[in-house]
Amino acid sequence: MLNHVIDLLADPADLTPLSGADDFSRLVSESGHSFDVAKQGYVTLAAGAGIKHQGDDAAMVAARETFLSQGHFAPFVEAVTDAVHEVFDETLSDEVRTPAILEVGAGTGYYLSHTLDDVEGAVGIGLDTSVPAAKLLAKAHPRIGAVVADVWQRLPIRNNVLNAITVVFAPRNPAEFARVLADDGQVVVLTADPGHLDELRDPLGILSVEDGKVERMIEQAAGYLAPVGDPELIEFPMTLDRDSIAAQVGMSPSARHIDPADLAVRLSALPDTMTVTARAQLTRLAKS
Ligand SMILES: C[S@@+](CC[C@H](N)C(=O)[O-])C[C@H]1O[C@@H](n2cnc3c(N)ncnc32)[C@H](O)[C@@H]1O
Repeated sequence: MLNHVIDLLADPADLTPLSGADDFSRLVSESGHSFDVAKQGYVTLAAGAGIKHQGDDAAMVAARETFLSQGHFAPFVEAVTDAVHEVFDETLSDEVRTPAILEVGAGTGYYLSHTLDDVEGAVGIGLDTSVPAAKLLAKAHPRIGAVVADVWQRLPIRNNVLNAITVVFAPRNPAEFARVLADDGQVVVLTADPGHLDELRDPLGILSVEDGKVERMIEQAAGYLAPVGDPELIEFPMTLDRDSIAAQVGMSPSARHIDPADLAVRLSALPDTMTVTARAQLTRLAKS
């Protein structure tokens, strides 16, 4: 619900504060701009020419919802929530009653909902460029405010208001993250690591994870954000049947690179179940 996060949101054109109008059917800024809240509960906050990147389409979002609801990535969601807890244990003063979290590229809201369930009183902005994702995000948790916005543009968020930003397999904007984070806030990033889903690469022809992803992410953040401690490797086996594998491929960038008919043929040649490695690095970054 947007009312929980309204004190964090800003006009994307000029960063003046937003407030709810007409029973939160629209948000208005101090400079007079108005943004309609969609009937599904999300708001699009974009200035000028609007949003350039579309993000995941409806089929990818549906595949993601199917796969995540089966619990295969539970160790990833636990790791992200644990890291947010650690950040708050180390940085939050007792006066902060409603810690504020932004998840960028929040997809279906699976990760942010779990974290909000676990961190008492916390509120969360789920931000994504994908409208199909925003529709699910708006319903994912009562303390999520769903925002359609592009992380590559200026974020529609006030300066220095967030206690944590989480990014799970999604794009980052270090300069903007540094602007919107509180001075002691941190970013928690989960990045796919080489070896992730390796057992599926040859049989299905899916894209591989390039080497040095975490190192590049840290380099690109230099000047704005610096790592806190060493990245943590999270690796576990998953037992997947063919439908789960199809959902996994459907939610990944490979969905746009493999012809659906070819994919169906390759999937039908797989055994009934496979053990597949999930592997990612979790990195915490603070303002530098
Ligand atoms: C691989 S998915 C990860 C979704 C979610 N974090 C999860 O793990 O379930 C990447 C997400 O980033 C979103 N995305 C892609 N480009 C974006 C951008 N420029 N700004 C905001 N979100 C973006 C996509 O729509 C998609 O929901």
